[in-house]
Amino acid sequence: DWTMPGFVDEAVSRIREQVGQDRVILGLSGGVDSSVAAALIHRAIGDQLTCVFVDHGLLRLNEAEQVMDIFARNLGVRVVHVDASAEFMGELVGVSDPEAKRKVIGREFVHLFQREAGKIEDAKWLAQGTIYPDVIESAGAKGKKAHTIKSHHNVGGLPDTLHLKLLEPLRDLFKDEVRELGVALGLPREMVYRHPFPGPGLGVRILGEVKAEHADLLRRADAIFIEELRGTKATARDAAADLCAEGDVGRNWYDLTSQAFAVFLPVRSVGVMGDGRTYEHVVALRAVQTSDFMTAHWAHLPHELLGRVSNRIINEVRGLNRVVYDISGKPPATIEWE
Ligand code: XMP
Repeated sequence: DWTMPGFVDEAVSRIREQVGQDRVILGLSGGVDSSVAAALIHRAIGDQLTCVFVDHGLLRLNEAEQVMDIFARNLGVRVVHVDASAEFMGELVGVSDPEAKRKVIGREFVHLFQREAGKIEDAKWLAQGTIYPDVIESAGAKGKKAHTIKSHHNVGGLPDTLHLKLLEPLRDLFKDEVRELGVALGLPREMVYRHPFPGPGLGVRILGEVKAEHADLLRRADAIFIEELRGTKATARDAAADLCAEGDVGRNWYDLTSQAFAVFLPVRSVGVMGDGRTYEHVVALRAVQTSDFMTAHWAHLPHELLGRVSNRIINEVRGLNRVVYDISGKPPATIEWE
């Protein structure tokens, strides 16, 4: 029978056997898979593991601090924190096409990761948080030549240029098993059960050209939305209005949605504040429910919750004076706006 403690013990001895005295590098993104891989490998080989956290400056509010808190301070993992926001912003000047932005961010990411990895002497292994669905997907893609609607970036190709062997301890696990493993390894539940976040980060949630000041506004609006979702539980009235199932009463709206975030729209509209007229930017809120992210419904969030989020964003984030809610399904819309 498969048990989590049994899996941890087995995985730890397998990693020790594979790696021996060698050093291992891992690209930490703050996402669930790379985080769990890091925690597991650290459990097995401690300081033989060095994580490289390339911070592109397009993360959510306080995310870089959280990653450093959890890994470097709490777990004692060696993490090289590369604060590369300035480089990324520089490369993104004048780039407004969504796929062009993905390419710039992906290329810069690989470049910086290679540069930092190259500094870690006599590393023999590159660890990745590849999970079973990734293995299946890339096997399928080889045969079929996957039809890409959006080019998803990862660190593919790195083992070749870095001459490293691949260490992928999560290859046999499904997502829910990876999450369970993360909790068993002491990662905060809140991190392990987080909504997915795209590799290019806020770069594809700021429509058009990415500007640092827009990223700042978006981060603050997004944090308010997420805080309210986490802090608001579904009620019997919500269930009676068919916004959720009876069994979901008492669960919070963050857990009742599959992905939720704010999007920065680079247009301005007129508003009033006190005696004055404002002319500021707009954010759209997006919340979806889905089982596979291939199709999705927009989430029927309670109106009071949406109203509270809107009021807070407009009152607390100077520079935003209008909030709209996205009611498009996938298809025909995608989950992200770019
Ligand atoms: P779409 O927008 O295509 O998104 O409906 C489906 C899921 O994929 C995520 N996504 C990405 N993830 N790099 C990623 O790592 C990307 O470039 C990217 N684009 C979309 C999206 O957040 C959603 O979960």
